[in-house]
Amino acid sequence: MTEKGLADVVAAETAVSDIDGKLGKLWYVGYDIHDLATYSTFEETVFLLHQKRLPTREELEETEARLTEERELDQWLQDLMPTFAEVASPMSMLRTSISAASAYDPDGWDQSAEANERKAYRLIARFPTLIATFERLRNGKELAAPNPKLPHAANFLAMLTGEEPDEEEARAFDICLILHADHTMNASTFVARVVASTLSDMHSAITAAIAALKGPLHGGANEATMKMMEEIGEVDKVEPYIKEMLGRKEKIMGFGHRVYKTEDPRATHLRRLSRELGQRKGDTRWYDLSERIEKVVMDEKGLYPNVDFYAASVYHYLGIPTDLMTCVFSASRVSGWSAHVREQLSDNRLIRPESDYIGPTNQEYVPVEERQ
Ligand code: COA
Repeated sequence: MTEKGLADVVAAETAVSDIDGKLGKLWYVGYDIHDLATYSTFEETVFLLHQKRLPTREELEETEARLTEERELDQWLQDLMPTFAEVASPMSMLRTSISAASAYDPDGWDQSAEANERKAYRLIARFPTLIATFERLRNGKELAAPNPKLPHAANFLAMLTGEEPDEEEARAFDICLILHADHTMNASTFVARVVASTLSDMHSAITAAIAALKGPLHGGANEATMKMMEEIGEVDKVEPYIKEMLGRKEKIMGFGHRVYKTEDPRATHLRRLSRELGQRKGDTRWYDLSERIEKVVMDEKGLYPNVDFYAASVYHYLGIPTDLMTCVFSASRVSGWSAHVREQLSDNRLIRPESDYIGPTNQEYVPVEERQ
């Protein structure tokens, strides 16, 4: 029997992350996402996803140093970036840059497990620099070089905005990166594993994953959510706007989930961060709008917000432009994608499902001259 959209089909065994959709639980390597969002850092989460255990202090410092050292872009990508800044949309820039980066990776086409680990960490380190370089160039702003004194999240924001974030903002963003790092067999991770299963290379798998994340039914939902809120504008307009959308049978971006049938545990943290950041900035407009939308969608459709819904206002409060929101998501998810690619390769079998043929059968071939 065909499961449309492969719903409920188990496509792989994994030790990276796990979800209980009924209970609204998410674990990375067995650690509850609530604990990781409370106590961990993005760098520690990267180690956890890749090494399948928490690091010692020394290992954590090594991971931090490794991710710091690999931030600089190759000259070749630096040269390409002005063209991207002029003509490309952010996710197209990212997809093309990662594809191009394969040609200049120091490990070349080495497909050994060790080379793939180095490639993974290099990609995780460089995503922020790519995104920030693109953002600064397209706005005619001076580039902000990576600051080796800053951790991953704070450095990312500093390169993006040109200003070093304060401690609360840096921690809020660090939590966002932790929350977005992995999520079992979501569409982009599945794509990455399919590409890896053909014994193609790490950069190809990540490029394909970026392509899958771009769509509004997946990672593009945060950007679409922010655009919707910008269009609604005021809390009083939420109810008629949402009701009209639902009346037209349109989907409300940032709501619903294939697996969660209750609150997405990541949304719990992002809702709180949205409220706290709004209050700190003395501008709760986007939080208030989000909260109202959440209530109306729950009353009308019984749907819960997913990770992308409150991520939109959180990113906005952190100074991240709307059209960069999906790129920022990918800068975190690359840690999960690359962990899944490595896991797939460690016990590989080509992913090649079946299909149910529903077209015509036993057709008689008619030469082109005789066709009506
Ligand atoms: N707004 C309105 N209705 C929604 C909805 C949404 N965001 N999400 C699901 N539904 C409704 C569908 O219309 C469908 O209703 P029906 O049975 O009356 O036709 C029902 O809920 C099931 O939805 P379906 O699209 O089949 O579920 P799915 O498991 O295939 O899709 C998503 C899951 C995430 C793709 C879907 O919820 C969605 O499109 N959400 C908006 C995009 C988004 O936020 N994506 C980010 C996911 S993290």
